[in-house]
Amino acid sequence: MKIIETAREMHAERRRLGDSVGCVPTMGALHEGHLSLARRARPENDVVVATIFVNPKQFGPNEDFAAYPRNYQHDLDLFEREKVDMVFMPTVDEIYPAGFDTYVTVGDLTKRLEGASRPGHFVGVATVVAKLFNLVQPTRAYFGEKDAQQLRVISKMVKDLAFDLEIVPCPTVREPDGLAMSSRNAYLDPEQRKAATVLFRSLSLAKQKLAGGELDAEKLRRAMLDLINAEPLATIDYVSIADSDTLEELSEISGTALASMAVRIGKTRLIDNMVLR
Ligand code: PAJ
Repeated sequence: MKIIETAREMHAERRRLGDSVGCVPTMGALHEGHLSLARRARPENDVVVATIFVNPKQFGPNEDFAAYPRNYQHDLDLFEREKVDMVFMPTVDEIYPAGFDTYVTVGDLTKRLEGASRPGHFVGVATVVAKLFNLVQPTRAYFGEKDAQQLRVISKMVKDLAFDLEIVPCPTVREPDGLAMSSRNAYLDPEQRKAATVLFRSLSLAKQKLAGGELDAEKLRRAMLDLINAEPLATIDYVSIADSDTLEELSEISGTALASMAVRIGKTRLIDNMVLR
């Protein structure tokens, strides 16, 4: 497995690579969710390039950039095991050299949900992903449905700016008790870890109520809020039942809806979602 640290080297390598390239962008601290993307990319592409970059521009001033778990050797071992061909792991200066001053802003889609709670987050995400795409020039790029809004924002950017690649959505990988895998789960103590199942439980409740014929989105939101509020360690940031494409809040479910939420368990902010049909 080749490790590449500079933009110049990445471009040089890319010119040498033939045919199809699958890209798996990550911030490291890898778990089965990340590895599922690499596993999907492996048979679909001649070459798989993973990226590990903890992107400072997508973290707010009071967020966990400095504390974000970093375990590069372990991450490299895991990618090697998945037969990833190349890992691009640039420094912050390599991606954002002095004077860097160009940003990608995706419009309405970024104003809701995570975008509303984390101002500037999606500018940081879209900017770094655009740069990574220009460096790796992938045929396909793999993103998790765990970050539902991110997936939609990146897909919109690719369409609007005509990036010549395919975005491949990959299902959320969960722990046996339903908790979505996340690098941030490492922050949870055992009691918080138990409480964290409330996200998946509330999504499952919404799904179950919809299956039982409840089409009133406000009633579904209310049921989720009540369940989460009953968990003493949980503090709600938002709970949403929105149109799956536009992410606009719904009053009634007709087509495909996205149930999503951000909940703090102690100081750890967790997100999860489920598509409701
Ligand atoms: P990160 O949080 O490291 O996630 C990297 C990729 O793994 C994302 O596409 C994310 O949706 C996916 N992922 C995370 N947890 C998952 C799970 N439980 N099941 C399936 N996929 C999962 O998302 C980012 O990094 C960054 O914003 C990035 C796109 C790399 C830009 O900096």
